[in-house]
Amino acid sequence: MTTMILALLLGTASTPAPTADTLRSAAARTGRDVGAAVGPHLLDEPSYRTVLAREFSVLEAENVMKFGPIHPRPGSDPSAFDFEGSDRLIEFAKANRMKARGHALIWHNQNPTWVEKGNLGIVELNEAFEGHIAAVVGRYKGRIYAWDVVNEAFADDGTLRHTVWYDRPGIGLADQGTAYIERAFRLARKADPRCKLFYNDYGIETLGPKADAVYEMLKDFRARKVPVDGIGFQCHFPVEMNKPDVLDSIERNFARFAKLGLEIHITELDIRVKDGSVASLQAQADFYGKLTELCMRQPKCKLFQTWGFTDRYSWVPRFFRGTGWALLFDENYQKKPSYDAVLKALGGKPKSDPELGDRKR
Ligand code: XIL
Repeated sequence: MTTMILALLLGTASTPAPTADTLRSAAARTGRDVGAAVGPHLLDEPSYRTVLAREFSVLEAENVMKFGPIHPRPGSDPSAFDFEGSDRLIEFAKANRMKARGHALIWHNQNPTWVEKGNLGIVELNEAFEGHIAAVVGRYKGRIYAWDVVNEAFADDGTLRHTVWYDRPGIGLADQGTAYIERAFRLARKADPRCKLFYNDYGIETLGPKADAVYEMLKDFRARKVPVDGIGFQCHFPVEMNKPDVLDSIERNFARFAKLGLEIHITELDIRVKDGSVASLQAQADFYGKLTELCMRQPKCKLFQTWGFTDRYSWVPRFFRGTGWALLFDENYQKKPSYDAVLKALGGKPKSDPELGDRKR
C-alpha cells in the first residue's frame, strides 16, 4: 500500500513491482510463526543473517542455551554462567522483530562436566537444577516467548529415561515418575510467569508407546494445573517417512494433544535424503509441503520451525551418516524446492506466481 501511494506521489511506476512473500510474511497472515535453530557465531556471515531475518519470525539457539554452554562452571552466581552467545541471539531477534525461543533447560545431553562428573549428591544436584532454571529463565524474562523446559525425558518404550536429573542420582525425586519434570515446570513458571512452557521430544510425532507416555504425563499435568503450555515435536525425519498412514498418525496425535489445550510447536524439523538429486529434492519438498499443510489444518499448531535453515550448517550429515540436504536453503543460501512447497502450503505467493502477474495488470 505504502509503495503504491509513494509510486503515485512520485508519478513513477504505474505498476508497482509485486513483492514475493517470505515464509514469515505468509505465516503471519495465518497467526503462525516460522522458526529456525541458529548459532550466534554464524551471524557474522552476511548471507546467513540476511536470510534468517528475512524469512523467519522466530529464532532458537541450536546449542548455546543448553546447560553445558550457558552454565559451564559450578554454582549459581553470575560467574558460573556464559551468556555471551545467547545475549547475541536475543539482541539479533529484537533488532529484526523476531521472537526468541529457549532451548533447553533440563536435558540429559550437553551437560557440563561439573554436573555429569562432579559426583554431586542429591542436595547439590537439586541446587544446580533450581539455580539453573531461576538464573537462565530469569535473565531472559519477557524476552524469550517460549522455553523447552524439559527435553527428551522419555525412552522409546515410554519409560522414563535414566538421567542425572531423574535418578542418577537425581534431585531427590527418583522413582517418583514425572515429579522431577513437574518441579522443573513449576520453577520455570516462577522465574517468568508469562513465558510459554514446553515439553519437547523426538519419536513422539506418531502414535505409539512413547507418544502415549508423554500424553499421559501432560494430561495429568493439565488436570493438576502444573504450568505447561505446549508440546514440541522435534520431527527429525528421513524422507522415507512420507507415507499417508504416517501423516495420518501424526495428525491424529497432534489432535489429542491439542484437545488438552496445549499449543503445538514443530520445533526441530529436518528431512534427510541420501543425495542432492532433483528427484530426492522433489520427494523432500513433497513431505515438507504435507507437514506444513498438516500444521495449517491444526489451529493449535503455531510454530513451524526447522533445525537450522541452510544445508551449509546442519547437524544431519554428522549425526545421520550418508544423508543430508535436509533443510529449506542449499549450501549457497538458494531456495530449494522444499522452500517453495512450504511457502505454498503457508498460503504465500512466490514471485513467479502467474496470479500475481494477473493482479498486477
Ligand atoms: C544437536 C545440535 O544440532 C548439534 O549441533 C549438537 O552437536 C547436538 O545437538 N534434539 C535436540 C537438539 O533437542 O538439541 C539436538 O541438537 C538435536 C536433537
